Parts: sequence; structure tokens; C-alpha cells
Amino acid sequence: MKISVTTIDLEELEVDLLIIPLPEEVASERLEGLAALFGPSVERTALDFSGRLEEQVLIFPEKGRAKRVVFFGLGSTADINEESVRTSLAEAGHLAKRLKIETAAMALDEALPEPDRCAQAAVEGFMLASYSFTKYFTTDRGGYTGPERLVLHGTISEKHLRRGVEYGRIVSESVCTARDLVNLSPDEKTPTQFGKAVEKSAKKYGYEAFVWDKALIEDEGMGGLLAVNRGSQQPPTFTVATWQPEHALNNKPIVLVGKGVMFDTGGLSLKPTADSMDMMKCDMAGAAAVVGAMEAVARLNMPLYVVGLIPATDNRPGENAYVPGDVVRMHNGKTVEVLNTDAEGRMILADALSYAATFRPELVIDIATLTGAVVVALGEKVAGLMANAQLAGSDHQDQMVAAGARSGERVYPLPMFDDYAKLLKSTVADMKNIGGRAAGTITAAKFLESFTSYPWMHLDIAGPAFIKQGSGYQHAGGTGFGVRLLVEFLRGLATRVNRS
Ligand code: BES
Ligand code: MN
Ligand code: ZN
Repeated sequence: MKISVTTIDLEELEVDLLIIPLPEEVASERLEGLAALFGPSVERTALDFSGRLEEQVLIFPEKGRAKRVVFFGLGSTADINEESVRTSLAEAGHLAKRLKIETAAMALDEALPEPDRCAQAAVEGFMLASYSFTKYFTTDRGGYTGPERLVLHGTISEKHLRRGVEYGRIVSESVCTARDLVNLSPDEKTPTQFGKAVEKSAKKYGYEAFVWDKALIEDEGMGGLLAVNRGSQQPPTFTVATWQPEHALNNKPIVLVGKGVMFDTGGLSLKPTADSMDMMKCDMAGAAAVVGAMEAVARLNMPLYVVGLIPATDNRPGENAYVPGDVVRMHNGKTVEVLNTDAEGRMILADALSYAATFRPELVIDIATLTGAVVVALGEKVAGLMANAQLAGSDHQDQMVAAGARSGERVYPLPMFDDYAKLLKSTVADMKNIGGRAAGTITAAKFLESFTSYPWMHLDIAGPAFIKQGSGYQHAGGTGFGVRLLVEFLRGLATRVNRS
């Protein structure tokens, strides 16, 4: 979708659909003014339309150059926020698709709070709703795949408008990169193919990517990743992506680690199919979010040194598969007794977290579809946030929660009391890889914590990463969860911290 900004007169915009979102307080006043530009049907609209949230009226104007005009209610100005704008404009995206619109324009009202933020959110809502994953359809569904062009019109300062629109466009496209990767058929995303996809993305957007092969992973002693990979026909990869611009404000990098289990059968501790294994192509959603975030960070030219690490393998019950009872020597030398091969995410993440220390990072954030238990605790829309003691004293955790609220990808903290770590005691090794049913999300995080030696946050996205039914700007399948959250967090970090 091509996106542009214009300041020409509203009635001069020649588009298939002109979208006019209006806050409640100014709705009637604005309609009065617009009637002069678009004709009597706008006057008649004013009889019914009050600007209430979710209100929507489509008209065919008598005057002006737009074929159709649609008014959306945004509700009261005091209640308008980025997420409500995103959700409202998602409806415009759906409408555009339903009407097979080629060109659309959106007029942003000057009464909107934080206009650049609202412009960003409006673009996100529209673009994310317009997304479709059509790779595997063989029938030509009318040949239409969504609007070709969106023009943003605003009376707010053009510079602000441009910045917000550009930001929204890049973030949305990065979210769609992550969605595409998750939605791909599992047989088309082997670790090697995934590594290639990252290399391609890096080349396109100007960051670095280096994909380790199995021999390098063996040299580095990543026992957890190799153990999980033993049942697979496909070798593992470990991808290191780097964005280190000259204008970076930080010397020590922010490291993002994404769980890249390309498919999780559970291994020999095999998963049942229904509502479980049938969704496990999503088990690389954390990795996909890291790729999306790297793309966005590079495209936005963020003044931050950011590294992305992606351990990748699938988890299968092959004849050489690791078994319950196996003791595995991890990258940091610690031993782990495997008691459930389905607790594989932590095995590969632990090695990546241990390796992350070599960067002497300022902060490490891992993102992973790690536990079913987090869905029980927080539901399908919210991710779990956990952190180690070294993070205390900084406001990173609060900032992550705030970034969640702004981006619409909400996260909520879970406690990390030491008692939980005791549940991981093994009788034969330093640790076992499962802690039992109680607080499964936290024991998984406690497992990971023991491989960290720097300020660290963990995001368990097993709930929101993948959905069976779409709503708002989300579609069934991969949601790209984490891209907007991470980008918003990093953006805050870049502007907040004044480093010398
Ligand atoms: N990939 C799963 C977690 C998951 C569940 C992701 C639902 C997305 C949706 C993970 O590898 C897993 O199997 N976790 C186990 C851990 C258990 C064996 C301790 C789980 O949650 O059951
Ligand atoms: Mn598993
Ligand atoms: Zn898994």
C-alpha cells in the first residue's frame, strides 16, 4: 500500500473512499462545514450522526471529487487514545476491502489529541486491517488484495502529520513481516529458510545478519539448541542480527532474543493435535517479532545499538530425539535434566541468553511463545512480563507496560519470587527443565533467569501471538505481536535516556 500526505483542499481529493473520523465534541460543527464541500447528504447525515464510538455512516456526496465519504465516530475526546483510534480505523480498512476500494483518503481532525500519535495509530489500524495472507490461495479472489493507496489529509502541522504517518507505515509493514513469517506453512520455514529470510530482510533494510550453521553452533557449545534439534531432519541455525548506526546513543547494545521453534510437536512428549499442536507453527512468533522489530528499528533509523538473536530449530520426535531423562550440558556449562521434551523453548533460549552476555549488553529482552500457562493466567490478549533482580532500580519494566498500553500490545508483570526457582531442583543435574503445573509461566521464567547475568526482561507471548478468529485490526493466524511493543519501548528508550 502506498501512503502519502497531502494538504490540498478536502473536496479536491479524488479517491474512491474518503474517511472522516470525528470526535463527538466537534461532530455536528464539522458536518456543517463539510456540507458546503460535499453537498446536502452531509447535512442529512448530521441529523443522525453524533460521533459516538463505533458509529459509521457512508454517503455518496453530491459535490467534491471523492466517490464515497464515510464518517466514523471516535467517541469523546477525553476517551480517545491510540488504541481506540487504531480500532476505529480498522473498520475503515475492512470497509475499504469490502467495497474493493483502490484509493482511500483519511482526514485527520485538528481536535484529535496528540495529532502525530493519532496519525500513526490511524495508519496502523487501517493498514493492519487491510492485511491479508493470500500466498496459498489458488483461486483468483477477484484479483483484489486491498487498497493500493492511502492519502492522509490533515490541518495539523504537516511535519507532525508526516512523521506520524511515516512511523505508522513502517511499523505496520514490520508487523506484517512478522505475521507473514508466522503464517507461512511449516514446511516452508525450516531454520535454514528462516535464516535466509532474515538475511534478505537485513539486506533490504540496511542492518546486518549472520546465520550460524550447525557446525558453528556445535563449536559454540549450544547444548540446549542441539538437544532440541536431535529429533529433527533439519539442522538448527542461530541468527545474529545487528543494527549499530554511527549515531547510536548506547555503547552497550540492547539485545532482543526471539524463540524460533519453527514447529513444536512437543517432541517425544508429543502434543495432542486439537487446539494444541495444530497451532504450533506459531512457535517462532517471538523470532518473527524480533525480525519485525529489527526491520522497523533500521527503517526508522533509530539512534540505538540493537542486536537480535534467534536460536532456531523444530521440535520433533525423530529416532534420535532427546528423551525425558537426558542430561544436557548447556552453553554456560550448566547441566539440565530434561523431564519433558515439550519444554523446549527454554532449552534453546537459555543458550541464546547465555551467549548474549558476550555482548556486555545494557539490557536483554527475550520474547517467546513459551507456556500455555500464561494463557490461563492472562488470557489471549495480554503477554506476561517477568524480569530479573538486575533490572530493579531501572524503570524498564514500567516503561514496557507503558509501551504496551500505547502500542495496544499489552503486557502485565508476574512475580519472580525465589521460591519458584526451588521447583526446578533436580536430583541428577543442576536443574530440571520443568517445574510442575503450578505457576508454569513463572517457573519457565525462573529457568531462563538462571542463564542471565545482566538486566533482563522476559515476554511470554503464547496468548496473543496467534489467534483462531480475527477481530478489529487482527486477522486469524499470526498477529505479529511484539513488533509494535518492542518498537515503542525502544523508541521511548532512545528519547528518554540521555547518554553521555
Ligand atoms: N510452545 C509451547 C507453548 C505454547 C502453548 C505456545 C500454547 C503457544 C500456545 C511450549 O513449548 C510448551 O509446549 N510449553 C509447555 C511447557 C510444559 C511442558 C512445562 C506447556 O505450556 O504446556
Ligand atoms: Mn513445547
Ligand atoms: Zn514451544
